[in-house]
Amino acid sequence: MKTAIRKQMTINPVVMDLLNSQIALEMKASASYLAMASWCDQRELVNSKSFFYKQAEEEREHAMKIFTFINDNGGAAISPSVENVNNDFESLRAIYETSLDQEINVTESIFNIFKTARKEDDFVTEVFLQWFISEQSEEEDTMRSIIDVFDLMEGMPLKMIDERLPKE
Ligand code: FEO
Repeated sequence: MKTAIRKQMTINPVVMDLLNSQIALEMKASASYLAMASWCDQRELVNSKSFFYKQAEEEREHAMKIFTFINDNGGAAISPSVENVNNDFESLRAIYETSLDQEINVTESIFNIFKTARKEDDFVTEVFLQWFISEQSEEEDTMRSIIDVFDLMEGMPLKMIDERLPKE
């Protein structure tokens, strides 16, 4: 029987388009973190540089999770082009503030896909996205606590602040 051999498309097409956009967003976040890692690396900010190299890898993993999920569920994952990556930052604090904004934007996008999946009765995607919701909550918390360190250590030398920041 044809249907027994060929995998049925379980993913909803509207949801699939949103997930493909999410892949692009995660890859853009990865490229952005890589630019931040480079800025920190050039200034020997050792904790921040390893933090952002790690973040860049993690965002790529997020994109790949979604990529394989789409294909595993009978859809068509699209490899995105990543453009307009900013490599120019005014300060380390500005980098972390931009990171928080980026994460808030990703969270909102995940919520939107989650709501759409629910509306479209795409239960498989809804369950899949639960992991991303927890992950976003953790990532936003991490960025907020780092920005708190800047508030507490205002006026201290940059390398001293960097030593208090997480490496991953
Ligand atoms: Fe995968 Fe932090 O967004």
